[in-house]
Amino acid sequence: MDKKKNISMAVIKRLPKYHRYLSELMKNDVDRISSKELSEKIGFTASQIRQDLNCFGDFGQQGYGYNVRELYNQISNILGLQKDYNTVIIGAGNIGQAIANYGHFQKLGFNTIAIFDANPKLIGIKIRDIEIKDIDELDNFLERNTVDIGIICVPKVNAQKVCDQLIAGGVRGVWNFAPVDLVVPENIIVENVHLSESILTLIYLLNESEQ
Ligand code: NAI
Repeated sequence: MDKKKNISMAVIKRLPKYHRYLSELMKNDVDRISSKELSEKIGFTASQIRQDLNCFGDFGQQGYGYNVRELYNQISNILGLQKDYNTVIIGAGNIGQAIANYGHFQKLGFNTIAIFDANPKLIGIKIRDIEIKDIDELDNFLERNTVDIGIICVPKVNAQKVCDQLIAGGVRGVWNFAPVDLVVPENIIVENVHLSESILTLIYLLNESEQ
């Protein structure tokens, strides 16, 4: 377990990709794979893969490679996917509804237990059996339910207020879609998702490749 400490962010950011590829391999009934084969599929070098996985324990055997299911299970555990997480979505507009409708998150163990919005026209509407509630009910809801992750999908002017409410209600993980840098206490984990940053990277690379 000591090995798990001081893992670089770069390694942590690669874990979801391992997880996704290993899941695909299992779906295709692949039982084992060498770091070389995995490297051809995933695009990291074989030595990078061995180094990454070595951070967490002794995976793989010389001459055998990795047992796909075992490695998948180990990476799931490292990521913390051995348990389920309760989430709430704040803001039931375009982004909030898209996330609520995306069934894959549930398969990974993320259960959206409520959606909140401030627009009276949306309150009471159901998305995949989850009723949109009035944002005024949020504090009370958080008092009565354990929520691990708050997903912020409101306009940026309201994001900090909503974030403060979530934290006051015991939420420790914030998945933030609003284009704003949230101010949070040290023990709160915020992961920002900014699609525009991704498209700007694409645009840069597109232009660079034309030169
Ligand atoms: P939208 O306008 O469709 O939905 C926002 C929803 O939040 C509305 O239903 C509104 O009634 C609700 N809302 C506003 N204030 C609220 C409050 N205090 N409490 C609860 N609900 C409240 O907007 P859209 O397109 O879904 O975008 C949502 C957020 O995500 C915005 O901040 C936007 O800038 C951001 N965004 C982020 C992207 C990304 O890549 N991370 C991409 C597109 C949008």
